[in-house]
Amino acid sequence: MGCCHKKRKKNVLLKKKFNDDDEDQNEEPDVNSIIIRLCYNDFIPLKLLGRGSFGQVVLARLKINNKLYAMKVLDKSLLKNRHQELHTQAERDLMVKIHCPFIVSIKSAFQDEKYLYLVSDFVQGGDMYFHMHEAHKFSFELTQFYISEIVLALEYLHKNNMVYRDLKPENILLDAKGHIKITDFGLSKMLNSSKDKAFTICGTPQYLAPEMFIQKGYDCCVDWWSLGCLIYEMLTGKLPFPVKREGKIDLNLYKKKLQFPRHLNEDAIDLISKLLVMDPKKRLGAGKDGAKNIKNHPFFEEIEWADIWNKRIIPPFVPNLENELDLKYFDSQFTDEPVESFTKNPRSREVSYEYKNFTYVTESVKNELMTIPTENMENNYN
Ligand SMILES: Nc1ncnc2c1ncn2[C@@H]1O[C@H](COP(=O)(O)OP(=O)(O)O)[C@@H](O)[C@H]1O
Ligand SMILES: [Mg+2]
Repeated sequence: MGCCHKKRKKNVLLKKKFNDDDEDQNEEPDVNSIIIRLCYNDFIPLKLLGRGSFGQVVLARLKINNKLYAMKVLDKSLLKNRHQELHTQAERDLMVKIHCPFIVSIKSAFQDEKYLYLVSDFVQGGDMYFHMHEAHKFSFELTQFYISEIVLALEYLHKNNMVYRDLKPENILLDAKGHIKITDFGLSKMLNSSKDKAFTICGTPQYLAPEMFIQKGYDCCVDWWSLGCLIYEMLTGKLPFPVKREGKIDLNLYKKKLQFPRHLNEDAIDLISKLLVMDPKKRLGAGKDGAKNIKNHPFFEEIEWADIWNKRIIPPFVPNLENELDLKYFDSQFTDEPVESFTKNPRSREVSYEYKNFTYVTESVKNELMTIPTENMENNYN
């Protein structure tokens, strides 16, 4: 895929102009009289799955139920140094609210002095970056299938006034059956209404919508721009706007006429061209019925949206997994590395900052925790 083999890190704050992320977080009342929590020692860390801007993602087994999870471990001192505390709090808060078949579901969140932990389903088919790198480009059929599921995920988020802001292959996972699961809400934001705007310039340079730089505020339509970039990349193996140096973006780059390879399907060219429109008001996907207009585009002609939502379509590519620990779809650069112990990391300095209302355990895991004899439990209640 593309020109670079290294995963592209998100550019978290290219420039912060307005304090749109500095609002008070709504405090969630505790519904239970007892708080049940998990901690790092409840898990057996097994393998490193990936590494990102502020920490790493580890495959871990929860001792109480013997199931596998992906544990995102974020270094509090790195977050503090780069003013990312509010983004991370938002990541946890948004994930707790999201229930969508094409989005990773959070199982637990907890913290200690040095780290924040976000535990979610282990999505075994690996990320799209891995698959695109292997395949170079995807067939029309495969692209159409993945994009259909991604459109439904974005429609779900936008209906809930959530702007995702980091759509790219690295954040799109494939489950064991070959369906999409979007992950990484580290840059997502909850808007107050469908008319509300965000101002922070953030995301990954190659996928950033141009209106972010104009600084008059932007809305969920930025995600449809990134979708246009993604479709182009899946079908051609190249980025529509290759940004050479991270952080430096020349708006003239977007004004150049897009080049499409000759072989490309006409409906795909039309859809990409309508998504990669600089003016967000004229972009396909703009406005209240945005997702509906995208779903009605001829690119999706034979798609039955109810079948996609209910996963009644057998994915064109089904990962070939031997067992639950088969990590063939993860980069060996990570999986071959020894997993570090997060209880003693010399890089991390002690940080006393305590994230408020961070602890979370999903109902199903809570029920499993409730059924184990109390003498086998340690520090799980308070
Ligand atoms: N639930 C998961 N299951 C399997 N792999 C995951 C999961 N979550 C993340 N990963 C892997 O870890 C990488 C980094 O995770 P991500 O949440 O995107 O972190 P960052 O915010 O650092 O980009 C992903 O690109 C993916 O390869
Ligand atoms: Mg990511």
